[in-house]
Amino acid sequence: MITVTNLDKVHNAGQKNKFIALSGINFTAANGECVILKGVSGSGKSTLLSLLGGMSKPTHGSVRIEGHNIAKLPDDKLSHFRLTTVGFIFQSFNLIDDLSFRDNVLTPTICLNISGEEREKRFLKACELANISSKESTLAKDLSGGEKQRCAIARALINNPSLIIADEPTANLDKDNTLYFIETMKKLKKLGKTILIATHDEIFEQSTLVDRVIKIQYGHIVS
Ligand SMILES: Nc1ncnc2c1ncn2[C@@H]1O[C@H](COP(=O)(O)OP(=O)(O)OP(=O)(O)O)[C@@H](O)[C@H]1O
Ligand SMILES: [Mg+2]
Repeated sequence: MITVTNLDKVHNAGQKNKFIALSGINFTAANGECVILKGVSGSGKSTLLSLLGGMSKPTHGSVRIEGHNIAKLPDDKLSHFRLTTVGFIFQSFNLIDDLSFRDNVLTPTICLNISGEEREKRFLKACELANISSKESTLAKDLSGGEKQRCAIARALINNPSLIIADEPTANLDKDNTLYFIETMKKLKKLGKTILIATHDEIFEQSTLVDRVIKIQYGHIVS
């Protein structure tokens, strides 16, 4: 599913404040595998996830997903890939504050040619997977931290992606909701989804969800 080869990411390349965030990253993840990314703050986890999700482009090297070098996809194909293949849970949620919970969750369906009935079905399913149901009309800015996180999870799952990329997905959740998230990921893994999670939460490593832990230090994979 994922092959990362000789990947480097330099922020602000060619400028005085250039920063080498990732260097010489190589790894693969198979379909249906769950991989955890670990590393101290600033080690490069979010940078790597954003490259894997097609949100930014490598300075060198490549990210291949389902055989496609995603940095080489034309914009329309890349947008379609991000909407339909990847479910990305952002570390900082990236919700639209003045839209309701419901409209935030539905955002990734807007450009897809699907019926209202199908949209509603997907909405209900995504809310169930994220363990949130009663906040439909609440504006995102009025949601609690944990509700925002679950709204972001529902939005990431609404198009039934085959690759789930989650950046600190439980940082704002209480223990019950963290365990619910892990159970949801287990269900999705059983359906063959590939899951990458950056987290500091040790609960993941104790879970049967996780197949492999990759440790990042100063932009390098160290184990
Ligand atoms: N757009 C950018 N411009 C300049 N530097 C950046 C940029 N994005 C990230 N960095 C730097 O790259 C390094 C890696 O950042 P990244 O967000 O990937 O870390 P992280 O491992 O996700 O940390 P955390 O656990 O705090 O979320 C940091 O030192 C950060 O300041
Ligand atoms: Mg991060």
